[in-house]
Amino acid sequence: MSVALVTGAAGGLGAAIAARLVEEHAVLLTDIDSGRLAETAAKLAADGARIAHAVCDVSDHSSVRAAFSLAEEQLGEVTALANVAGVGGVLTSFTELTVRQWDRTFAINTRGTFLTCQELLRRRAGRPGAIVNIASIGARLGMETIADYGASKAAVLEMTHAVARAGAPTGLRANAVMPGLIWTDMWRSATERMVANDPAAAGATPEQLFAGFVDRMVPMKRPQTPADIAETVGFLLSDKAANITGQTIAVDGGAVMS
Ligand SMILES: NC(=O)c1ccc[n+]([C@@H]2O[C@H](COP(=O)([O-])OP(=O)(O)OC[C@H]3O[C@@H](n4cnc5c(N)ncnc54)[C@H](O)[C@@H]3O)[C@@H](O)[C@H]2O)c1
Repeated sequence: MSVALVTGAAGGLGAAIAARLVEEHAVLLTDIDSGRLAETAAKLAADGARIAHAVCDVSDHSSVRAAFSLAEEQLGEVTALANVAGVGGVLTSFTELTVRQWDRTFAINTRGTFLTCQELLRRRAGRPGAIVNIASIGARLGMETIADYGASKAAVLEMTHAVARAGAPTGLRANAVMPGLIWTDMWRSATERMVANDPAAAGATPEQLFAGFVDRMVPMKRPQTPADIAETVGFLLSDKAANITGQTIAVDGGAVMS
């Protein structure tokens, strides 16, 4: 059985992706949130999945290396990687965005993806494998209040191309998925902050604000689900996608068309 490592596995999308991947892989679930990670892992283990879990801060090189080593000890050599860990944008005007905020977003969303991709390529050393990097439609929309987030995810897209080129001759594939709008903690906390800080949002509930974004941004007028994203990641990490590399697939109800 192949072994997959999932970052951000305690989050809304990460937990769904891990639950999908256990159908075909042994899975190491990793996240920085130890409590929710243990809960997610316990649920999957109760269903009989072959899994392990480890706290891993993707922005920290030694933490990433330790997670790969733990996967190898407990499950076997990692052959598949889903980079899901991430933080949302700061929600401020471009002129107010601070260097500290910019650097934090990039440290997690971009450096984190770089470190795990590099670790997998190094360990596979010329052998096949598969990577899916979770980007965002925010990488393509030029949204002023999340310039840090959009730029960090656009960097992930181009990095995915470089990883795909590096791995292609030996069958290591890398693709990116751009999720649309999914009601997870990321959107919950963003809309809560809008309600608290943005006079234009005052009086609305976070759920109403989210529904408004879906209405304005998604041609199909429906939010996406964690399962929508998990299914695409599962496909791209499987042998069914053996001839697909260097691609970006939007799962977004048509928000970004290519
Ligand atoms: N929810 C959406 O609508 C949406 C849309 C597009 C892209 N995404 C992307 O999907 C991914 C998952 O987001 P989500 O919606 O599940 O949000 P979420 O907040 O539920 O999950 C994010 C997870 O990442 C973890 N994390 C944060 N910093 C970390 C670090 N330094 N190291 C390891 N883990 C860390 C968090 O603990 C959390 O469990 C993110 O990369 C996000 O940018 C989400």
